[in-house]
Amino acid sequence: MAAPRAAVELIADKRQGLRLPPEEIRQLVDGYLRDQVSEAQMAAWLMAVCWRGLSKPELQALTLSMAESGSRLQLSRLPGPTVDKHSTGGVGDKVSLVLVPLMAALGCYVPQLSGRALGPTGGTLDKLESIPGVRCDLSSSEIVRVVREAGCVIAAASPELAPADRRLYALRDSTATVHSLPLIASSIVSKKVAEGVQCLLFDVKAGSGALMPDLHSARRLAATLTELASGFQIRSSAMVTAMDQPLGRAVGNALEVQEALDTLSGSGPHDLRELVLAEARELLRLCGQSADPSAALDGGAARERFAAMVRAQGGDPELPLPLGVRLATLKAPRTGFLARLDAGAIGLAAWRLGGGRRAPSDPVDPVAGIMCLSKEGEAVDRGEPLLELWGRPGQDPRSALLALQHAVGVEDSPPQPLPMVLQAPASA
Ligand code: URA
Repeated sequence: MAAPRAAVELIADKRQGLRLPPEEIRQLVDGYLRDQVSEAQMAAWLMAVCWRGLSKPELQALTLSMAESGSRLQLSRLPGPTVDKHSTGGVGDKVSLVLVPLMAALGCYVPQLSGRALGPTGGTLDKLESIPGVRCDLSSSEIVRVVREAGCVIAAASPELAPADRRLYALRDSTATVHSLPLIASSIVSKKVAEGVQCLLFDVKAGSGALMPDLHSARRLAATLTELASGFQIRSSAMVTAMDQPLGRAVGNALEVQEALDTLSGSGPHDLRELVLAEARELLRLCGQSADPSAALDGGAARERFAAMVRAQGGDPELPLPLGVRLATLKAPRTGFLARLDAGAIGLAAWRLGGGRRAPSDPVDPVAGIMCLSKEGEAVDRGEPLLELWGRPGQDPRSALLALQHAVGVEDSPPQPLPMVLQAPASA
């Protein structure tokens, strides 16, 4: 048998656009984890992938190597299907906080491994951790315990699950190689393989507040994700949803949890509720079921599952959420219809208020955020408050206000309403 080629040869091949056999991809990932492939070499290979892409067998091999770099959750012998959804992230996206307990209330088991915020789109774990006492850094056995007790969990991937993704993601973050379609897809799917879910829905967001700014790249990512997941025997589908304005009205950690709780109580903003119900119906379809999820949302069963999950993760669902103070208000410049509520700018402003972090070790402020008092298409009067900036008493909101300079647009006539679901769920 020929001796394995050196890492530098594999980097050179990818730089020239050649395809690597699956065993060489595995060699690279395993060598990196054992520190036989240096950070510089891995970063060079990742940059070559950004330019040259990966073939389907290469992508499958990279994903498998990352999934097999650690252990898998032991979720066998549960009396219902294991399901999850993954959102590529968006401003005000608190769907998981409602959908995860809703699916548990419908008899599914949901072991959601989620992320923290790095950049303006927020992170589900930061949101959940604004509930006093909640812990999201759980070991694999704790994750399994919470799923068995509450039917669902929202936690960070424990160090044993897909550790290669954890290291590669940090390296990508510091080498401008996050925005590569095959690297995004392998990172996401490797964690879902480690979760061991049977049915999976991808919510790929497109717009100014999303990882994928345009519909075309969002569609490509959606197709890549479902094709990749099907290679691991996961029943999956992907939908593309709009992220040009924030989802719901709240942006920021505790503010979003409050909005999720309202939605779990049968109220909450219309767009959030509709998206949660559309995603729940699709997940039920993937599991071969056809129940109506709205009864579990309106009847309190989903809220009970949420409280059980919070308790099982160390939190107290009865305690009040941390609340900041209103620092500033942005008013309508004229009378008309709100035609633009730029998710990207609002996400940036919430991040500047302290809702997100600059470096992975930074803390986030649970009270920081923005409330959108009006949404696109609504009639507004000159001087009417449109956005409220929330933070700590005495905090200076000027840099956040600067980010919001061009965030809103008011026109004489209402804008053409755009659907929230830009591409209906589709499987590979
Ligand atoms: N989410 C992930 O888990 N990985 C990526 O690379 C991008 C988004």
